[in-house]
This record gives sequence, structure tokens and C-alpha cells, in this order.
Amino acid sequence: MTSKDFTIPIEELNKQKEYSSLVQTVLSSRFSDSKPKAFVHTYGCQGNVADGEKLKGMLEEMGYCFTEKVEEADLVLYNTCAIREHAQDRVYGNVGALKQIKEKNPDLIIALCGCMMQQEYVAERIKKSFRYVDLVFGTHVIYKLPEFIYKCLCTSQRVFEITDSDGNIVEGLPIHRDGKFKAWIPIMYGCNNFCSYCVVPYVRGRERSRDFNAVLNEARELIKKGYKEITLLGQNVNSYNKDLDDKYSFPALLRAINDIEGDFIIRFMTSHPRDCTFELLNAMAECKKVAKHLHLPFQSGNDRVLNEMNRHYDREKYLSLIDYAYKLMPDLSITSDVIVGFPGETYEEFCDTLSLIEKVRYTSLFTFIFSSRPGTKAASMEDKISRKEKGEWFNELIGLQEKIAGERTASMKNKIYRVLVEEEKENGVLTGRTEGNIIIEFFGDKSLIGSFCNVKVTEPKTWILKGEIVG
Ligand code: SAH
Ligand code: SF4
Ligand code: F3S
Repeated sequence: MTSKDFTIPIEELNKQKEYSSLVQTVLSSRFSDSKPKAFVHTYGCQGNVADGEKLKGMLEEMGYCFTEKVEEADLVLYNTCAIREHAQDRVYGNVGALKQIKEKNPDLIIALCGCMMQQEYVAERIKKSFRYVDLVFGTHVIYKLPEFIYKCLCTSQRVFEITDSDGNIVEGLPIHRDGKFKAWIPIMYGCNNFCSYCVVPYVRGRERSRDFNAVLNEARELIKKGYKEITLLGQNVNSYNKDLDDKYSFPALLRAINDIEGDFIIRFMTSHPRDCTFELLNAMAECKKVAKHLHLPFQSGNDRVLNEMNRHYDREKYLSLIDYAYKLMPDLSITSDVIVGFPGETYEEFCDTLSLIEKVRYTSLFTFIFSSRPGTKAASMEDKISRKEKGEWFNELIGLQEKIAGERTASMKNKIYRVLVEEEKENGVLTGRTEGNIIIEFFGDKSLIGSFCNVKVTEPKTWILKGEIVG
């Protein structure tokens, strides 16, 4: 299938443009003195953040401005995540807190969307137990936001639209980018991997890739506008355009973006080890603008557990990729995701995870205790290890990673790194990130924000570096 098979037709988008103008007319008659304010909050991964920027783009087109204060908002929109139970509980808590605000301001529109809402049992719970929520919509219909808002403004009905779908691609939506020099470009959506613990394939639909030239043009435009860091996004970027000719593959895309003129850096996430190829690593090594940082989630270091997780690679294949990558790029910074306490995992098997961490020597890890997700295969697997014991394993893992991270950063002392300056932390203290994605702090003028600087590491700490600008 090509991206054309999934793409929402222009007629549908034009219909939404018409709704957008209708909303604008309604809002300008109701808010004659100032613009209505929207509070938009996104939970979860960068893919969801990129959706959030499109939602904001559409709201802006409808006439909304944005506020950071939920109490003064005329519209509250939570773009939610379903990856772990804890993420969902936070949303329920925050939505609960909106009840009082709605009592004070009955005209407030409360809207919920994102992965959590794509699950039927969640939408049902919102319908029954959170009656003051006006609008709930799933991940496949975000482009219909103008129509939904119009209905909320002009009828007294609650709007629920959670269509199950394999997913679509929508090109040309307005984007309100939060970053001025760092930008996200989603290159693919959905996931076909069905890792047994994971809810993403159920809430995001099947894997589909955006058109190669559409991505390339978006990158060109951003760079022309002065963006300095482009992050390519997908649940599994290595299978981008898997069904098409190699000249449209992910490594080919990296090379094509690398060839765009200008001083900028390219990042990408996430790579799935199953589809990670030597060709991708070659492209990384050969492309000067591609950051020498690889986020390659391994989840577990034990083959039986990996098989139960349905990950489609084993420890040996994972380590052979790492080995090849370090040979090509000795200074490569590798990060990863890991799950502790998958159902049926024994302590001995967990020790294989520890030994893998020692072998690879990650810069940092995103560590998670297994969370059972309704509807996934792992949710029905027997899970004998107590939460307390999993917590102890988790702490052991964190301790090991802390030691490795400390040793890694210590070896960076007195070396000079090229850093993209991101913000002023406090008066005169700037922060930025190295190519390897480590935060570094140094004195400097805030006019440097958004540009590249050479910074020498003077004082490495475990998770953060301190340094000084040189040259
Ligand atoms: N597509 C990416 C991961 C996206 S989800 C990949 O496959 O690499 C981000 C991370 O959340 C996963 O890598 C995994 O470590 C974690 N995760 C996902 N589902 C989980 C669950 N049910 N419990 C605990 N951690 C989970
Ligand atoms: Fe989830 Fe696996 Fe897909 Fe990643 S590859 S999103 S962990 S199913
Ligand atoms: Fe969460 Fe959905 Fe991303 S479940 S991690 S927001 S794809």
C-alpha cells in the first residue's frame, strides 16, 4: 500500500475548513473584546506531541489563542496517552479536577482525545462518570476538530466520536509548533508489531508511511525557516516505506535530508531492533548531520522473555547491531527502553537484562515496570512476582545504570562538544544538548539560544554535564 491509499481526501479537509470559518464567526460574536483562550495539554510520546501541535494549529485557525492557566480557559483539551496505567490515572485525576472549574464557568468546553480515548472502556467511563466532559474523540479523527468544536458551540449535545479504523494520513493540517528551532516530523503512523504488552497497535491502527517527498519538503521548509534540529518520528522508523523500493527507505530518507543545505541536526526515534539494519547504521555514520545518538529499545536481555514479548529478535541479534554500531561510530551514544517484571519473568532472567546493560553501556535508559494493558496478550498472562519484588529489581537496575552513566560522563571531561543551545535555566546559565542527547549547562548570553556552540566539559555529573564555551 502507498500513502495515497490512506490519505484523507482534500474534499473532507475543505469541509473542515468551512467548519473552521463557521467556528470563527461564532467565536467572534461571543468574544468581541478578546480572543477565546484554549488550554491544551499533551501526555505521552513525541508522536502525540506532534498531534498536539496540529490540534493547536487548527484551534488557532478557528480563532483561539493559548493559555497556560486552566482556570482562565474557554476550552480545555487533554490529548491523552494509554501506554501505562499510571499515565491513564493521571488523566482521570486531572479531568476530575476540571469539575469545579466547569461549575464556575458553565460555558467552558472540556474535550479529551488521544490514545486513551481510542479505547472503548475509557470512552464509556467518561460518558458515564464524567458527565461534564463535552467532547471525546479518538486518534483517527483529529482532523475533524473544527466540526466537533462547532457542534459543541452550537448544540447542547455531548459529542463522542471514536471510530475504530486501520488509520489514515492527513497532509496539510495547520501546525502550531511549540519549538522555535526544534521541530518534529512524523514520518509514519501506527504499528504492526503487536508486542504482547503494548496498547499502541490497538489505539493507533496499522503502520502507514507518509510520502517521501512530503516529508522531504516539510524538512526543507523548516530548515529554510531557520530550524536547527529536526526529529523524525515513528513507532518503528526502520520500517518506513518497507513495501516500497529501497530508494524510499528510511536510510534513503536520512541521506536525502542530510543533503539539504544548511547547518542543522537530524534525530530520529524510535528504531525497533527487529528492522534495524546495518544499512541504517551505515547511513547514520556517513551522514554528517545525523546525530550520533541511537535510541534502540531492547526491553529485555533474555531470549525467552523477548519471545513472550513478541519482539522478533534475540539478544545475539541485538548485540550484533550494537557491536557494528560502535565499530562504525566509537563515540555513539545509545539509549534504550526496558521493562522490568514482564509476566513470568524470573530473577535469573532479569539478570540477563542487567548483563546486557553492562555490555552495551547505555548513556541513559527509560525504565518501566510492566503495566497490564486491557486487551493485550500479556494482560492474560500469569504474573506471580509481587509489585514490591519488581520494585526491588527495578532499583537494582537503576543503580547499575547510574554507575554506568556516571562512568560514561566522567570520560567526557575536558572534551569539547558541539551543542545546540536550548534555553536559559537561570540568570546567565544556559542549557543545551550534545549530539548524544546529554544535557549540558554553561555560562553564556541568552542571544546564543537556538544556535550551535562548542562547549568544553569541565564538571561531569551522572545525568548532566557542566561546561564552558570555547572558541
Ligand atoms: N515503538 C517503540 C516503543 C513505544 S512505547 C518501540 O517498540 O521501541 C515506549 C516504551 O514504553 C516501550 O519501549 C516500552 O518499554 C514501554 N511500554 C510499553 N508498553 C508498556 C507496558 N504495558 N508496561 C510497561 N512499559 C511499557
Ligand atoms: Fe508497542 Fe511494540 Fe509497536 Fe513499539 S513496536 S509501539 S512497543 S507494539
Ligand atoms: Fe502513549 Fe499513544 Fe504515544 S499510548 S506513548 S501517546 S502512541
